[in-house]
Amino acid sequence: MIVIRTFLTAAEVGPTEIEGSTAVVIDVLRATSTIVEALGAGARAVYPTDSAEEAARLANSLGRDDTLLCGERRGLKIEGFDLGNSPAEFTTERVGGKRLVMSTTNGTRAFLAAEHAVRVVAASLLNLSAVRRAVAGAERLTFICAGRENRFSLDDALCAGMILRDLAGGTSSKKGRGGRSDLDLDDASRAVLALAQVHEPSADILLETAAGAALVEVGLRDDVVYCASRDRHDLVPEMHDRVIRLSEEG
Ligand code: MLT
Repeated sequence: MIVIRTFLTAAEVGPTEIEGSTAVVIDVLRATSTIVEALGAGARAVYPTDSAEEAARLANSLGRDDTLLCGERRGLKIEGFDLGNSPAEFTTERVGGKRLVMSTTNGTRAFLAAEHAVRVVAASLLNLSAVRRAVAGAERLTFICAGRENRFSLDDALCAGMILRDLAGGTSSKKGRGGRSDLDLDDASRAVLALAQVHEPSADILLETAAGAALVEVGLRDDVVYCASRDRHDLVPEMHDRVIRLSEEG
């Protein structure tokens, strides 16, 4: 039996609830998309932090020569930081060989909420298939949707549902009607699975979400479209001791 649990916001995650599980952290718009893009472009590692102040302290202690400060508030680059949270900014020229210390409103906090899991991976639409393969053997799987300011976010839920849909082989019921019968799904997992059976993620859907609309409002429509491109990378970022690097299997 594979036990699958889904948290629709990172705020719901208690430390004991993810012990012993593989956690899949999802922030499609945009933190996990940016992390995938950054590591794909050759960044050495990403350090998620829960405040801009902590990020600045950590970057100074790591050494500013090869460390960049990245992150956003209200979608825009934090004052004094090197980069914002737009995946397209994270080119090999900018981030190759660098350590990135990152603070975003929801996404980097979701990683910290996941740190007691046995394994923590980052998922987005950009690396959907690679994550699905990487977690296929897990006996306990927990999706942690970053959400948006402690509220449900459709983009993250849809991404979790897509991974689950592939794992489940098309099932929509707890006992696996038409698909696998060895899945133990909680209500939220069933909900995201049902969602993914009705909607394919697309730029249009992402643009209609609250997170997508907020990005359009600050002039970042292209980022939303970018984050919709499925399987742009065949890699899996994995966090150990609060540091995210490329997984060897990814
Ligand atoms: C977040 O972590 O809240 C997001 O990635 C927000 C964003 O940059 O669009």
